[in-house]
Amino acid sequence: MAFNNRNRSLLSLVHHSDRDLHYLLDLSRDLKRAKYSGLSRPTLTGKNIALIFEKSSTRTRCAFEVAAYDEGAHVTYIDPASSQIGHKESMKDTARVLGRMYDAIEYRGAGQSIVEELAEYAGVPVFNGLTDEFHPTQMLADVLTMTEHCPKPLTDISFAFVGDGRNNVANSLLLVGAKLGMDVRIGAPQELMPHADHVSMCEEFAAASGASMTITDDPLKAVSGVDFIYTDVWVSMGEPLDTWGRRIDLLLPFQVNTGLMTAAGNPRVKFMHCLPAFHNCETTLGAQIAEKYPHLRNGIEVTEEVFESPANIAFEQAENRMHTIKAVLVSALT
Ligand code: CP
Ligand code: NVA
Repeated sequence: MAFNNRNRSLLSLVHHSDRDLHYLLDLSRDLKRAKYSGLSRPTLTGKNIALIFEKSSTRTRCAFEVAAYDEGAHVTYIDPASSQIGHKESMKDTARVLGRMYDAIEYRGAGQSIVEELAEYAGVPVFNGLTDEFHPTQMLADVLTMTEHCPKPLTDISFAFVGDGRNNVANSLLLVGAKLGMDVRIGAPQELMPHADHVSMCEEFAAASGASMTITDDPLKAVSGVDFIYTDVWVSMGEPLDTWGRRIDLLLPFQVNTGLMTAAGNPRVKFMHCLPAFHNCETTLGAQIAEKYPHLRNGIEVTEEVFESPANIAFEQAENRMHTIKAVLVSALT
């Protein structure tokens, strides 16, 4: 099978083979070590990369910017308020404009169809920095982090995502776990289970890779014996604020607290989160939720106790966003 990552977009990981994924993970490790040892050299000098953010971001934006600057490339940050995108100009036209000026484009926004359309018309590689359906660059960082915090071969590593089982992070974790032959579990209430078509696609990948997939509404079953317990916010960007009440009712049994960590039955189990996390009431939204639901003042999807414990490797994931995004840029643009 052909193997070439040059000029390659990264839209969902659906079309990436396990070899492609291993290549990106290996390159990420190399680039991380090179930076740590002072041996980095810029490989993207003279390249220009557009960063379109229609939803807010800390990690993804900073990871793209630092990765690009480390490699000698330039970036332009574009937010919805300061561009014509959407209100005066379609994505198809925007793609045809930016593709003539930039060597690559990152896009964070709503529907997956938007980033697919951008890639279809831009003529340059497009990288999905999060859509409602997928968060592919997050996955590279997460798998790299798992390999750094578990001595097992990748195909022996097990992890459980507990929470909103149909959000972008859950979809992408199921996909990447299935592609890489891992033991991947989703623990979610029936109302928030992954969509059937996504599950059947992942089952096909799992059949080919030897992955084990478990999808359950029992949080204890989901985490039994795992190496990593992963969660994400209960209400994602773009969902209405009045979603919170119902989500809290549905997801409280899936909160990552000391009891759930203990239920893994693995003293070395680690906690993962893509961040940002509601682990206390020190943010505006966290405080609003705590006022209405006082039992959540010490954390919503994860308790302060777990978040501040040595089991938490979410900040390792955050750092790895930069090394893995750098690998995506270098592999596509050198
Ligand atoms: N995990 C993640 O995508 O973080 P940001 O929303 O800060 O980019
Ligand atoms: N599911 C979250 C992920 C944030 C990185 C969201 O879409 O808001």
